[in-house]
Amino acid sequence: MLSRLLLASARSERMRDVITAVPLTRGVVDRFVAGEDLDAAVRAVRELTGDGLQVTLDHLGEDTLDRAQAARTRDAYLALFDALAAQGLTEGAEASVKLSAVGQALPDGEAIALDNAHRVAEAAHRLGMTVTLDMEDHTTVDSTLGILGKLRADFPATGVAIQAMLRRTEGDLRDLVHEGSRVRLVKGAYAEPASVAYQGRDEVDRAYVRDLRLLMEGDGHPMVASHDPRIIEIALELARRTGRTPGSYEFQMLYGIRAAEQRRLVQDGQRMRVYVPYGGDWYGYFMRRLAERPANLAFFLRSFVSR
Ligand code: FDA
Repeated sequence: MLSRLLLASARSERMRDVITAVPLTRGVVDRFVAGEDLDAAVRAVRELTGDGLQVTLDHLGEDTLDRAQAARTRDAYLALFDALAAQGLTEGAEASVKLSAVGQALPDGEAIALDNAHRVAEAAHRLGMTVTLDMEDHTTVDSTLGILGKLRADFPATGVAIQAMLRRTEGDLRDLVHEGSRVRLVKGAYAEPASVAYQGRDEVDRAYVRDLRLLMEGDGHPMVASHDPRIIEIALELARRTGRTPGSYEFQMLYGIRAAEQRRLVQDGQRMRVYVPYGGDWYGYFMRRLAERPANLAFFLRSFVSR
């Protein structure tokens, strides 16, 4: 219930104005976001890669209805790639792109988002980097998979996030388990109706395990994006059973969440990629993190009383 309220707030302009105006919020946001500018993103990449982790960078923003803003987000990725290249940090690096940030929701948005994402993927490809498309609410899945297909025609390593909570996902995965296909399996971070999505945590977890089995048994590159210790154990067991070696699949976690566990898995010989969000438009991302976990919300609220 609380989680649904927070997820609804993630899309409320009024709540955005209230939450972002409170100076104290900033300190809590820093736990989940690398910083507001390019330098902060580059610093985070240097630190994480220095510890043996890989990265996928997200220039924060979503749901734009402004074509110029969509172009600015695209250009922010291009500037990021230049900065990483200048610092020798492109090896193994990836960018995560939300199509709604590069124009998907505009009239004729699919063509605009494809054009912008294509330019990002092309620039990444030139530097030996990859791009993965984030998945947003269920109304965008067909469009995102359509754009993915077009991007993959030119850049076959383009990945996509797939949400276990959606009832359609097992069907979608059957088309995505081919060789070279990079799929990031997540539980799903959006408030979705029961007609399209499993509602209970247990149901979502069971769906995640079914999907993970499909990915591990398939020929693609599974990206296990979860902080859930049970999911990580099951992924390791499935990898053993399917004869996969670390690197033929990878784990992924969000910046600032279970940082010690991220490093522990690397020390155990696993590949771990950290999703690093940066930029000024952190509101929607931050609210989804609060909705995910009561402890995150408690941490946020405590920062007000303990000042
Ligand atoms: P869940 O939130 O159910 O947590 C399960 C358990 O994990 C907890 O009970 C606890 O044991 C442990 N845990 C979780 N957080 C913890 C913390 N802060 N400290 C300690 N333990 C903790 N979603 C989406 O819809 N589209 C997308 O494109 C993406 N992209 C994406 C990329 C990456 C790399 C990740 C990791 C996640 C996403 N997500 C996403 C978000 C995803 O859908 C989901 O909301 C979050 O990952 C939370 O789900 P978990 O699988 O972590 O489990």
